[in-house]
Order: sequence, then structure tokens, then C-alpha cells
Amino acid sequence: MYLKDLFAFLRIPSVSALSGHSDDIGRAAAFVRDWLEQAGLDHARLVEGRGNPLVLAEWMGAKGKPTLLLYGHYDVQPPDPIEEWVSPPFDPVIREGNLYARGAADDKGQLFILMEAVARGLREPGGLPVNVKFLIEGEEESSGEHIERYVPAHAGELCADAAVICDTAMFAPDLPTLTTGLRGIVYGEIQVRGARNDLHSGDYGGAAPNAIEAAAQIVCALKDRDGHIRIPGLYDRVERPSPAELDAWRKLPFDVEAYREKEIGASALAGEPEIPLFERLWARPTLELHGIRGGFTGEGSKTVIPARAVAKISLRLVPDQRPEEVVSQLRDAIAHATPRGVQASFELLSASAPCVVNPENPFIREAAAAMQRVFDRETVYVRCGGSIPIVGLFEKSLGIPSVLMGFGLPDDNIHAPNEKMSISNYSKGLDAVSEYFQRLASLTRA
Ligand code: BES
Ligand code: MN
Ligand code: MN
Repeated sequence: MYLKDLFAFLRIPSVSALSGHSDDIGRAAAFVRDWLEQAGLDHARLVEGRGNPLVLAEWMGAKGKPTLLLYGHYDVQPPDPIEEWVSPPFDPVIREGNLYARGAADDKGQLFILMEAVARGLREPGGLPVNVKFLIEGEEESSGEHIERYVPAHAGELCADAAVICDTAMFAPDLPTLTTGLRGIVYGEIQVRGARNDLHSGDYGGAAPNAIEAAAQIVCALKDRDGHIRIPGLYDRVERPSPAELDAWRKLPFDVEAYREKEIGASALAGEPEIPLFERLWARPTLELHGIRGGFTGEGSKTVIPARAVAKISLRLVPDQRPEEVVSQLRDAIAHATPRGVQASFELLSASAPCVVNPENPFIREAAAAMQRVFDRETVYVRCGGSIPIVGLFEKSLGIPSVLMGFGLPDDNIHAPNEKMSISNYSKGLDAVSEYFQRLASLTRA
């Protein structure tokens, strides 16, 4: 375990959402390529295109053994609010067994687990026991489409038996966890226009439409107070998890009060009250309002009727919902909810499909066994409420399952101040991935 290289990687502020960091994106991509080349991989290269570079590299020296597509992302979320970090986000430090830095868990630290496991295998006398193809992107956090164009167009070159991704979390500390599903997402802006321009609310109140109120009315019409989404047809394709899956979720070690108090910090949980919590988080679509822009929010009072408003919203999708269909259902619902005198439109910013993997698959079973061996506890299967947009395409374009063996923890503060990765998880993750490669080598080729 050479944390020194990971430290250097974490020092590069490769924030994909902010255009001022494009040099850092380039440096992070080059860092990964050079590192993989040094580690002994073949054809380590950057693929430039519209969007941030992809990093590819491979080692195909294990004749007759399975081939794994190893995915991760070198881009990170913006670090703000910066003043809430105990130590600077791009100045990695270890405190109390945790490595603190933006990207420590999501995903530079976890990507490094895959990179180091491969490097370790290559140093062994017999080489790596499996074949690997790295596919690493730099715009996962900002919904870039470079990888989405690349994968279907290069299906032959990327062909593998399974994809392996370390970009999720364990359900609890020391509890080895495999993630068997990710939600999809539809993210966009509701743009509302009322009067030609802002108007005096004394002169025109009672006659002029108010764009911010209209935006609020539209958003409120889309979801009821119990978290049910009021978009006709939205639930038509939603599949309930199997009784066995629901039963397994019920058995997870979990204290809902501690979760409410410590993890959420609110006086009550929201969401559909008749649906069990994990089903709500992992297997139900949700709709969130992220922000409303427009009107007057400055100091003091200004009596204005705003003419324009923008509401940013997203929906998380679950199998078998289809992003395009959801967008069209959403547009219809917005049109229906728009009050008179204003125009509202939905501008799509990004979309990705949900996915589930069947754990009855040798690549998943061996991953569970490898993690169990290292953590010395039975591996649990959960789903994840978040999204990793490319995973759906691995199934659709390449026809391969994804093995989501994540080593993050629920309190890693990903996307938040003081992001961290547990050093012990890093090192056990490395052992688990190495053990996984060994086990796969003794499988007969699929
Ligand atoms: N690694 C996360 C996905 C994730 C979220 C894993 C929560 C485990 C727990 C990934 O980098 C991510 O943040 N995805 C975004 C995708 C979005 C920008 C399209 C997400 O889920 O919001
Ligand atoms: Mn991630
Ligand atoms: Mn992320």
C-alpha cells in the first residue's frame, strides 16, 4: 500500500463541474495514465473527444482466464462550502485512521484500490491471474457524455466478462457489501416566464402573473405531502423487488432512530409512509427540488412581481423506468400544472437509466466470497439510491453484469465537506479485490 501516490492524485483538484479546473482534469487524467503505464499495463492512453479525456489501459496476459472491465472516475465534486473543511480539501491528511480529502472515497481513493490491486498482481511471479481493461472517465460527477458515446461505439474493444466498480459504500462498518442496483436519474430545469418584465407588486398585484409562485405551484403539484409523485403513468413500470430481496433488506442491522437522528438530523423521515425505508431509498422513484432561482432574495424588501423563475429538479428512477418516457410524462404533468398567464418548459440537463444485477452470477458470487474472506463476515446485498450513469450501458451495450464492490462507509461525507476514506477499508478493499482476482482465475471461462 503506497498511499504516497494516492496523496499526489488527491492533490489535483479535478473538479469536472467547474470550467476553471480543465487543466487539473487534464493533469488527473495524465496522472492515471502514467501510473498505469508504470505499473506495467499495456496501451495506457488518453482518449480525447467531446468532454474530458477517458483513460484506457489493459493487460491481457492471462490466457484463457476471465477479462474484467475496471471502471472508475478521476473527477470529483466541487469542494464548497470550503470553510466547513477541517483541513483543506486538496491537501490530503490522515486523522484517526481516516484519509480526508475531496475524492478520498468518491472516487479517487476507491479507484486506486482497483489500480493498486492490479499493480500488486502484476508484481507477482505469475503476473495478474485475470485479464483487465481499465476504462476511467473524468465527468461522472457532471453528467458528461464522452463515455456514453464511447462505450457503444467501441463495444468490441471493451468486451469483457464483467465490469468491476469500486464507487459505492458498505452498509455498515466491517460489513462486506455488494450493491445489486443503482437508481437512474432525470435532471433538469423548469423554466417559467410570466410578464414581459418584473413589475411593481402594488401597481400590478391582482393582475400580473407571478413566475416564482407559478414555479412553486408546479413543483408542489408534482409531489404530494406524503412523497407520492403525481405524474400520470410514472409508476407504471416500477417493479417491486422480489419477496426474497425485501426479506434480506429487513434483516440488515439497522436502527432507524439513530439513522434519523445521526445521519439525517431531522425531526422525522419523509417519503411514502406505507413503503418500507430501504424500498423507498433503493427501489422507488423520487422527485427532489434542488433550487429555485429568480425574484428578489437580497437584503431588505423589494415589492416586485418576478417575471422569470427557474426551478431545478430531478427524479431518481428505478427498474424498469425509462428516462425518455419519464421526461415526456414529466413535461405533460408540468403543462397540466401550469397556472394561466405563464409559460413553463422543462429543459433536460442529464438522464441515465436505472439498473439491477442478478446476484445469481459467478462474478458476483466470487466477489461476495472474496469480501467475506477478508472481512470475516457474511457479505450482504443491498441496492444504492444514487446513480453511476454508465453502469446501465455496460449491460445494454456490452451485455455484461457490473460487480459493485464498494468500500466506502455511510458517513464518508461524499459530495460534502470533510470527505474521508477509512484507511482500514482501503487496505481491506485492496486485499478483497486481490483475493477476487485469484478466485476468478480458478473459475472456468464463461
Ligand atoms: N459514487 C457516486 C454514486 C453513489 C452515491 C454511490 C451514493 C454510493 C452512494 C457517484 O459518483 C455519484 O455521485 N453519482 C451522481 C450521478 C449524477 C451526477 C448523474 C449521483 O448519484 O448524484
Ligand atoms: Mn462516484
Ligand atoms: Mn459522486
